[in-house]
Order: sequence, then structure tokens, then C-alpha cells
Amino acid sequence: MKIFLDTAIIDEIKQGYDSGLVDGVTTNPSLMKKAIEEAKKSCTGNAISLRSYIQRILTIAGKTPVSLEVKGGSADDMIRQGLSLYKKFSTKSNHVVIKIPLNPSVDKDNPESLEGFKAIRSLTSKGIPVNVTLCFTAEQALLAAKAGATYISPFIGRIDDKIRTDNKIKFDKTDYFPADGIERKGDILLESGMASGIDLLQQVKDVYDNYGITTQIIAASVRNAQQARECALVGVDIATLPFSVFKAMTTHPKTQEGMISFLKDTVKEYEDMM
Ligand code: G3P
Repeated sequence: MKIFLDTAIIDEIKQGYDSGLVDGVTTNPSLMKKAIEEAKKSCTGNAISLRSYIQRILTIAGKTPVSLEVKGGSADDMIRQGLSLYKKFSTKSNHVVIKIPLNPSVDKDNPESLEGFKAIRSLTSKGIPVNVTLCFTAEQALLAAKAGATYISPFIGRIDDKIRTDNKIKFDKTDYFPADGIERKGDILLESGMASGIDLLQQVKDVYDNYGITTQIIAASVRNAQQARECALVGVDIATLPFSVFKAMTTHPKTQEGMISFLKDTVKEYEDMM
């Protein structure tokens, strides 16, 4: 499984790439806002432009994919925004991916929309790789693939959030949610026929496998290390992780306990041989 970092914070991206374990970066408008606000705080006189900031991310990521998201609107709006981002930032030495919401509707009375799919088709037909975001069902993932998506990003943590919120179960953002779901009065709690975000991933993978679809699955909205493990067990192509989840994947209390005793037991004669 490839690992992408789901962050726009330069220091995190740098640490991730320095480890040699990171294969790409995904961003969205919220992550970009958080990162640039932080960067401006630590930089006197706000002497930092978002454009040069994004260029720095792309330099660190080199030839690995970096997703930049459009704002939304109609298909024409998103095609224009996507082309503009791609032209500004894509060079021979990097690999910009345009992130498109599969359904950009924000009108509660009219939630259905085909605008995202038109934008995906248009951009991919121009050879621009597209990461389709805000995917919450396997049927959305199927349509995104039919439109030509290079990547699909199912949001697994937000499915778990919805199951817990709808059923009045208190939780913190990083709390583990069982992949097989939560049972109540003999029934598993479901959201649109899914027991968990990991179940969503499995359903997307099953549908893609049924038809030999080559759109790559990026598990997104991953909240903890155990969920990252479950993404790998499902066999998705990529998990995009907050930096904290990436670091948490390195730990186990027994790893640290073992390290403390090995250090204590290292005799001088052995140490001198190193
Ligand atoms: O890649 C999607 C991600 O940034 C959303 O994560 O934790 O806000 O649901 P989260």
C-alpha cells in the first residue's frame, strides 16, 4: 500500500519524505487554510504567498503525486479552476493531480448533480490526472470511475462519524471504530448499507474488482493507526494519512519496552565494537 500524507504543512511533508516512506501528498481547501495560517503566524510580516508555498510542497514531493483541490461550482467552473491550477503548478519535475468533488451541490433541496462527473471527464480527456473526492458510497465510486477518475477517495472516518452521531454515541475524532461495525440490540448499525468506513472501502474495492476497474482507491479521512492497518488488509492502493496517524503507525508499547531493556543490557565491550 502506498502512503500519502494528507496535509499541507511543509514541515510534516518534509519529515515524511525524509523518512523515504511517503509516496504522495493530498490537500484540500481546509488543509491549505490551516497550513498557510500557521506558516504566516511563524513568518514576520506575512511575507509568504500561497503560490510560493504550494511550489515548496511540490518541490519536496518531486515526481510523486500532489493533489490540489478545486473550489467547486458548475462543471465549467471546476474545469476552469482545475486547468488554472494545473497550468500554474504542473512542470516536468512534478506531478500535480487535480482533486474534484464528485458532486459539488451545496443546495440541500437539490442534492443531485452530474457536474462533478462532467468536470472529471473533461480534465482526464486532456490528460490531467484527477483525484475524485468526497466519496461516501460504492455507487458514487463506480460513477467516478466511469467518468475516468485516476483516483477515488472514499472518506472512511466520516462514515464512522455519521454512524456514531446518528446513534448518539459519543466519540473523539481519533477514536477507533470497529471495522465490522457496532452491534445494538442484535443488529449492526448501518449507514447506507455500510457497517463502517472500512466496509465502505471493501465495497468500493469489490465493485472495482468485479469490473476490472483500474481507478486507484485512496483511503481518505483515516483517523488512527489501526484503521491504516485495516486499509492495508482491505488491499486499497493508497492510504492518505494525517501526519499524526503516519507517526502513530511506528509505535507499540512493547517496541519501546524492548528498546529500553536492550539499551540497558548493551555491555561496553559490545558497544565498542560498533
Ligand atoms: O482527505 C480527506 C481528509 O482531509 C478529511 O479528513 O479527518 O477531516 O474527515 P477528516
